[in-house]
Amino acid sequence: MEKTVRAHTNIALIKYWGKADSGLRLPLMSSLSMTIDKFYTDTKISDSTENQFWLNGVKQNGPSSNRVFSFLKILQSKFAVTGKLKVESYNHVPTAAGLASSSSAFAALAGAFCVHYGINLSPVELSRLARLGSGSASRSIYGGFAIWQKGNDDESSYAYALDEKPDVDLQLLVVELNNRQKDLSSTQGMKQAQTSPFFMPWIARNQIELEQMINAIKANDFSTIGSLAELNACEMHAVNLTAQPGFTYFEPATIKAIKLVADLRRLGIECYFTIDAGPNIKILSQLKNVKDITNRFVSEFHNVNIINASFGPGISCLN
Ligand code: PMV
Repeated sequence: MEKTVRAHTNIALIKYWGKADSGLRLPLMSSLSMTIDKFYTDTKISDSTENQFWLNGVKQNGPSSNRVFSFLKILQSKFAVTGKLKVESYNHVPTAAGLASSSSAFAALAGAFCVHYGINLSPVELSRLARLGSGSASRSIYGGFAIWQKGNDDESSYAYALDEKPDVDLQLLVVELNNRQKDLSSTQGMKQAQTSPFFMPWIARNQIELEQMINAIKANDFSTIGSLAELNACEMHAVNLTAQPGFTYFEPATIKAIKLVADLRRLGIECYFTIDAGPNIKILSQLKNVKDITNRFVSEFHNVNIINASFGPGISCLN
């Protein structure tokens, strides 16, 4: 029987937002993420008479299938293996949240490819492969906190675990404000962002904030972890706003949520936010405040979907 590989989504606390090489997906900066327990992708690959990609039980044609098979083609030529493949993936994301991340998808796909062909790789080697599908996928090989070191070529650009079982009291409340498909892919957004006059300062800041974040994690310092994550996300979105022409992933509800986080903090409920290439917000909080934050968001945003996530594990083979 074909084996299923499971990889969990990760959320960057220090973001990757800029490519040095788009073919190899080499980043301009290192990044740091938290792998989360609630969102993951299960993927298995079997031999087939034609290439086919099934997502959540539905056969896919078009861009998503093309992206999967162009990635698998690169891997096949890398390992000198051939054959038509059936790829079956299930994205475990509560509701049609529009929060599905390519991080778990391409990590699971790289893992399933290796299982299918009996290729034995170290986590670092697997991280490098996953990176070729989607940059953020390089970090989903690991549980807990992971760092993707930018490196300067295919060999040196990979992620490693900073702490796979962190002791930090850190919850991530994923607030689904809007489940519309984003207009601008992260690849397009990163490209456009490079036209911002603040793009070079952004790269420099990222390096500093990464080091500060590593220290804050080691010191188990929630306040510093949260405020650095928030600052870093705001800087990423500032380069988008100041690009030529400027753009933003924010929707009116995103701004309302940002103000709500500041409001909660003023009331003594400590929390911080991070935002990726979409309108939804992720709130960093400690366990004791999850209930108050959730209640406040539910009362301000009717029918909002909030998922309370914590640290998730690294990639694994299920059977
Ligand atoms: O690698 P991609 O295409 O999933 O881009 C990731 C971009 C961000 O999520 C915004 C930041 C990050 O480091 O994950």
